[in-house]
Formats: sequence, structure tokens, C-alpha cells
Amino acid sequence: MSQPTSSGSGAKPARELFGTKWGFVLAAVGSAVGLGNMWRFSYVAAEGGGAAFVILYIAMVALLGIPLMLCELVVGRKTHLSPIGALRELGGKRWATLGMLFVLVGFLILSYYSVIAGWTLRFAVESALTGFPGEPGAHFTEIASGRGAVMWHLLFMALTISIVMVGVQKGIERAAMILMPTLFLIVLGLAAWATTLPGAGAGYAFYLQPDLGQLLDPGVISQAVAQAFFSLSLGMGAMLTFASYLSKDTDLNQEAVTISFADFLVAFTSGLVVFPVMFALGLQDAVTESTVGALFIALPGAFEAMGGVGRIVGVLFFVALAVGAITSAISLLEVVTSSIIDEFGISRRNAAVGMGILIALFGLLSANSLDILGLVDQFAGELFLAVGALGMSIFVGWFMKDPITELARGASPGFQAVIPTALVLVRYVLPPVIAVVVWFQIVATIEVVRVTFGGG
Ligand code: PHE
Repeated sequence: MSQPTSSGSGAKPARELFGTKWGFVLAAVGSAVGLGNMWRFSYVAAEGGGAAFVILYIAMVALLGIPLMLCELVVGRKTHLSPIGALRELGGKRWATLGMLFVLVGFLILSYYSVIAGWTLRFAVESALTGFPGEPGAHFTEIASGRGAVMWHLLFMALTISIVMVGVQKGIERAAMILMPTLFLIVLGLAAWATTLPGAGAGYAFYLQPDLGQLLDPGVISQAVAQAFFSLSLGMGAMLTFASYLSKDTDLNQEAVTISFADFLVAFTSGLVVFPVMFALGLQDAVTESTVGALFIALPGAFEAMGGVGRIVGVLFFVALAVGAITSAISLLEVVTSSIIDEFGISRRNAAVGMGILIALFGLLSANSLDILGLVDQFAGELFLAVGALGMSIFVGWFMKDPITELARGASPGFQAVIPTALVLVRYVLPPVIAVVVWFQIVATIEVVRVTFGGG
């Protein structure tokens, strides 16, 4: 095993690695699968026209998502360093700036992600104890504001910190090994149950019968790309950081395909739960209104209307959502933590607790205002991820020395054969396409800023 090279601040102890191949895969899938799959995917898909969006999304994951994931994995495993150090080592000082952007983005995304995760956790716990409330709209307002929102956000951050603090194998890997299989089972079980709902047919039709006219709408394409980056945790160094704990004999190509496929499957299967439930209860308008809260109002309402079964199903749904959120939050905090450890040479414990507290404090802004939450999401979760993805594809495609050799290390013959094609995508297709997405995101961000600050 190669020893990690240090950059700048003196000799470092050997890097801790994932204990098993499955540990890495589950941790990476845990990063990818989260609120983005079970909540964001449903409403973005609904907005983008249902089935047509699903097809576009698959195409974007294959065309852009997998190659971009390879870019992150190859840089992480080659250097065994966290984003700032990794990009500095391979590209010099200028590229270290991209690593700093990644850390900033991890910080910002986690600050509001944890707020939404806090609502989720609260739904899971409270519905298990007392059932779903009769007035979902009023209840959501209560959950998403004031002291309650703050407390559950802080609780969720505390949970995240307590796992990251412990380390890669004993904290992150162990949590993923337990939590991810649990989540898969719950989501599969819920989808099976949803087939029994009377009236579910309209939901399946909306979700599975494409209106092909929408496939060429550039706005929808750009939404699909943005959703792919967010859902696959790309564009901010999460996959890069996890790959920095990988030994040299793993097949990065196979991992990238497995992670992307698993992420898609969970998103798709969640849709097989959300749409039948919504349509069975005549709540379809609630899905297409793409506000942060729509699903958090409509779904509990639906579960409540279903009586005893609804309660069991609802609790399971929110438990799965909270589980997905925790494993994603871990990866967000890990990007920040590992960079602080590598750059300043402080202990993991201090880095995780210190940065976790700062993030939790910054998140108080989002806990107290849905407008701010939406704004930070637009900047960090949409615009900056696209910018980060653009930077990463340009770096690996045009500046990194010989990415092919590193990608080929440990690759099976089948994958060896497609690596050159992947590099062609990374060089010639990703940068221009992602640049267009960045442009769309700039326009969308200006709009959100205008509405937030000018709309009165
Ligand atoms: N992929 C996660 C989700 O779908 C969110 C996330 C984005 C996590 C970026 C890490 C980095 O919920």
C-alpha cells in the first residue's frame, strides 16, 4: 500500500483505510442516497413531467454522473488526501482553490440539510409515539419554525458529529454497514405495499408513461443534471474524500457503476411509493408544487388518512428518510473534517466537533427561515455543485497527468476497454454540457435572490 504523501505541514501518520470493499461501497452509497432520493427526486420528477424526467435522469446519470464520479474517485485514491491537499498535489496551488470551494460547499449544504433532516427525524419519532397529526399543514409550520426546528436540527448535527468523530472504520463504515441495508429493506417493503393501494394506477401512469415531448426541454435537462449531481453527491469532493480511504487494488470503474446504480434504484423505488400514495389520495397537486415543504405536508396527511396501516407505513417511511439523511450528512461533514485534519494537523475528534458546531450554528439561519434555507440550497446545492463538477471535469480531463493509468489499476478487462471512452466524455462532453448547466443555475440563482430579497 502506498503511503500518503504529505503536502505542506510535515509528516503525517498513515491514512486510515476502509476495512472492506463493501464498507466503502455502502458508505459511498450512503452518501449518495439521502433526502435527494426520497424527497427531492419525487418533486423534481413531478415538476419535470414525471416519466419523461425519469428517462432523462437515467441518461444524465450514465452520460455525466458516472464519468464525473470516476474523476472524483481517481483523484481521491491516487493521492490518499482530502480535496484541498489532493488537488494541490496533482495540480498545484491554483487547483487547491477548487478543493477549498468543495469544503465551503460541504459546510453550506450540511447547514440546511441538517435542518430538513431534523424535521424528518422528528416526524419519525413523533409519529411512532403519537401517530400523524390531523392538520398536516399547521403541523408542518410548527415543525419547520421556532424552537422545535432548532432543537431537532441540533440533535441531528450531534448525531452526525458523534459518528464522524469516531473514525473511518469504526464510525463511518460501521454506520453504513448497519444503516444502508435497513434502508433498502424498508424502501422495498414500502414499494411492495404501495401496489396494493386502490387508485394507485394513476400514480404509476404519471410516473412511468413518458410524454416524450418534454425530453428536449433544455430547462428540464438542466434540472435532471443538477438532480444527478446532488443525488450522487458529486461536485463537492464527497466521493473524492471517501476514495482517499481506498486501497489501490479496488476497481474504481465497478464501484462508480455500482454506486450510481444503487442511488438510482433507491430514488426510483421511492417514487414507486410516493406517487401511488399521492394519487390514491387525490393529492397529486401537492407533489407538483415544488416547495420545500410540499411532501412534508402531503405525505403525513396521506398517512394520517389511511388510519392504522398509514401509521406503520408512515413511521417506516420517515425512518428510512432519516437513515438516508444521516449517512449523507456524515459524508458532508467528512469532507470538511478530513480537510481540516490534513491542512492543520489537528485531531479528528477536534476537527469533527469544532467544524460540526460551526456548521450547526450557521444552520440556525435556515432553521429559522425557509427563505434562507431555499437560498442556501440554490447557491450551494445547485449552483456551486455545478461549478465544482465543471472544475473537476476540466481538471481530470485536461490537467491531471495520466488519469488512465490510475483508472486502469485494479480494473477488470471489461472496464479497461471502456476507460478511454470515459476519458473522451470527460474531456469533450462534460465541460461544455456542464457549462450550460452552470449558466442555467446562474439564471435560476439570480431569480431566487430576486424573489427572496425583492418580493416583499
Ligand atoms: N446525495 C445526498 C442526497 O441525495 C446529498 C449530498 C449532496 C450528500 C452532496 C453529499 C454531498 O441526499
